[in-house]
Amino acid sequence: MRRLNKNETTRVALTLNGRKLAAAAEPRTLLSDFLRHHLGFTGTHVGCEHGVCGACTVLIDGVAVRSCLTLAVQAEGRELRTIESLAAPDGALNPLQTAFRANHALQCGFCTPGILMSFTDFLARNPHPTSAEIRDVLSGHLCRCTGYAGIVKAVEEVASSSAPAREEAEESAS
Ligand code: FES
Ligand code: FES
Repeated sequence: MRRLNKNETTRVALTLNGRKLAAAAEPRTLLSDFLRHHLGFTGTHVGCEHGVCGACTVLIDGVAVRSCLTLAVQAEGRELRTIESLAAPDGALNPLQTAFRANHALQCGFCTPGILMSFTDFLARNPHPTSAEIRDVLSGHLCRCTGYAGIVKAVEEVASSSAPAREEAEESAS
């Protein structure tokens, strides 16, 4: 493969929130900047730009990643999901978003897109987490407003909404 110099652009094609899109990016372009400035998906927020705050979290092939630590070219051919994918086309919030709203799990909302994307990945793999597991995921995010308690409560509410399934699983395992 020919090496690009740092100012040369290349075409990056990906599937974003179910739509095939492509745009030019330099080899050094961060995925967070590519999403926000090249593709216009500004729901992904950028706080620290060095992997600490978690605000920029998106899903690549279903896995939560820091888009500020990922190059746009690494998204070539991949399936991406951003916060814009969570609500229904008519704007109806999904269960996790609804629980965040009901439990005052956000104030300014700057950290919220990243937190929602992390828990979207996490709950898909672990639909019935313990409070400790929820707090462990949340430890990868910084929120300057909420004190975190409402966020834990919101995720617990979503997890417990399918509690009967959990109890059945526990019974059949015993
Ligand atoms: S902006 Fe990416 S982790 Fe803070
Ligand atoms: S709601 Fe303001 S930073 Fe989290």
